Amino acid sequence: MKIDAERLKKRMDIINNIAVTNDKGMMRLALTDADKKARDFLREWMEEAGMKVLIDDIGTMYGYTEGSDTSALPICSGSHLDTQPNGGKYDGTFGVMAALEAVCTLKDNNITTRSPLVVVNWTNEEGARFVPPMLASGVVAGNFEANWVYEIKDKDGVSFINELNRIGYLGKKENRLEKAKFYIEAHIEQGPVLEKEGYSFGIVNAALGITGLDVTVIGEADHAGPTPMKLRKDSLMVASEAMLKVKEFVANYGDPAVATMGTISVYPSSKNIIPGETRFSIDMRYDSSEGLTELENKIREIIEEVCKKQGVKCEIERYWRAEPVNFDNRVIEAIKISSQKLGLPQKVLTSGAGHDAVFINRIIPTGMLFVPSIGGKSHCPQEDTNWEDIVTGVKVLAQTIIELDK
Ligand code: HGY
Ligand code: MN
Ligand code: MN
Repeated sequence: MKIDAERLKKRMDIINNIAVTNDKGMMRLALTDADKKARDFLREWMEEAGMKVLIDDIGTMYGYTEGSDTSALPICSGSHLDTQPNGGKYDGTFGVMAALEAVCTLKDNNITTRSPLVVVNWTNEEGARFVPPMLASGVVAGNFEANWVYEIKDKDGVSFINELNRIGYLGKKENRLEKAKFYIEAHIEQGPVLEKEGYSFGIVNAALGITGLDVTVIGEADHAGPTPMKLRKDSLMVASEAMLKVKEFVANYGDPAVATMGTISVYPSSKNIIPGETRFSIDMRYDSSEGLTELENKIREIIEEVCKKQGVKCEIERYWRAEPVNFDNRVIEAIKISSQKLGLPQKVLTSGAGHDAVFINRIIPTGMLFVPSIGGKSHCPQEDTNWEDIVTGVKVLAQTIIELDK
């Protein structure tokens, strides 16, 4: 099946020209006007393809194409259009546009599946503006309650529900994807493996689990001048010591354990006040549930020990946890068969990144396919994938939908 690469390229360029930063990064944070623009284009293209567009109560968009068997459960494919701040052109966007293109390709080739087909754009996968990540897929999978999500505020104190309303994408609860035959998500790898080992495509069998902690170190604000170094309760210095100890511990824990302290803030944040309070986040990941729990417990201990030694208090709270997952063998098998039919060598790998598929896997048989990331880079303007790999990914996705429909 030939996909319409021109149509795909044109549409991805339109999405990726909506909100571009000075260093060519994407700035389509969830529920901003930029996200709305992308959503409006997607709705237009879905309707152009004859799809019925439904929106659920968390703003997730579903584009339905009827199948020949009206009683059959749908086969769904999609990802997310929201990006990280100064993010890349392919994280999420590739999966949504690949799903749209795959369904349009089947139509163009007059192939009607038995199952209805659904193209999905999940709200707020990145968790950059509204924390934690994967909120919409988390609500559909039963991890989060809608009312809890509605009250989440961004760093300016603006609530999720306020923004969902403002951009006109507050849909209905009954439109949530409760049941489907299969869900498959195409995504960029966001890591170095496929490129390093010379593969143009990968089959994802599992994804790491993720735990997120918010740490507050409570010292004492004081004057930067008359306060001798040995009398200070400098929360930033204590936090820095704790962070370095955490990094050492996780580095020695062994792959695939990782920990990222991606945000930090001090209070009151004045150049001549000793920081009274320091807040930082820790995003830790591992491939087993027990290991993830052990990592969290040990990291808590390290931080508490440093704070005790330095005579300051700390508060540590978990802001989210996504269990490690193994994807569904039937979907993995269907991707394998598709890639064989396309003459592609197969590489099976685990995802270090979280995806909506991780939560959807709890309620629907789910799988993922990857295309390579150049230099393994992602969540940055340098995120890039060779165009022929993008086209290959769409071809495998379209073929996999046919295999899953059998
Ligand atoms: O953090 C993640 O793994 C995902 O890209 N939101
Ligand atoms: Mn993503
Ligand atoms: Mn991402």
